[in-house]
Amino acid sequence: MKKIVFDNYKVMSRAAADIVAQAVRAKSDIVLGLPTGSTPVGMYDELAKDYAEGKVDFSKAVSFNLDEYAGLDGAHPQSYRYFMEQHLFGRVNIARGNTHVPDGVAKDLDKAAKEFDAKIFQKGGIDLFVLGIGQNGHIGFNEPAASMPAYTHVVELAEDTIAANSRLFDDISEVPKRAVTQGLATIMQAKKIILLSSGPAKREAIAKIDSGIITLDCPATVLHMHRDITLLLC
Ligand code: PGA
Repeated sequence: MKKIVFDNYKVMSRAAADIVAQAVRAKSDIVLGLPTGSTPVGMYDELAKDYAEGKVDFSKAVSFNLDEYAGLDGAHPQSYRYFMEQHLFGRVNIARGNTHVPDGVAKDLDKAAKEFDAKIFQKGGIDLFVLGIGQNGHIGFNEPAASMPAYTHVVELAEDTIAANSRLFDDISEVPKRAVTQGLATIMQAKKIILLSSGPAKREAIAKIDSGIITLDCPATVLHMHRDITLLLC
């Protein structure tokens, strides 16, 4: 596991965007794994800037997002599909048909989750995954637990995740209690992973990774088992 500590959020975001843009230039039909949340916003801004300046072309790129709230459709302003439209998809030339966000309103969420993994497999797997991390060490919505499904699945959100994410809703009661998330095995099968973390709220989770102990109490610690992972921290 490699670790790079940056002076501030802006330079970390630029470095993350460089890694993504470079990977897209190297493989135009790249398959990207993408996160939502506050942390990657700066990276998406930089990628939008790169696209506007003609430095990167997403026309053949394919993307698979980490997760989505159950019960929110893509038109809902708090849905992750909506977030991706605002922060990346609507600002670059990625083909909408090539973008995949788990369907939070599928009639059969379990079946849709299985199909999501099958689609990743069909596309040849994820080349580069960009991850964020929760205060409780979750990646995607893989919350601390004694055990968890390996692949994309429906999950009950932890109370601390609901509390952390309530800042984006009018009221905590509006935060969905369930979500669909890629599983840790889905994520770990990516060829290359970068994880972004910014600010003191994440320090405890990062310290658990630093301890070198793997535990599902901090799901991000499984990333030690990946052979090409870089933490970008500030
Ligand atoms: P954040 O969320 O980037 O908004 O802190 C990350 C996460 O919960 O995975």
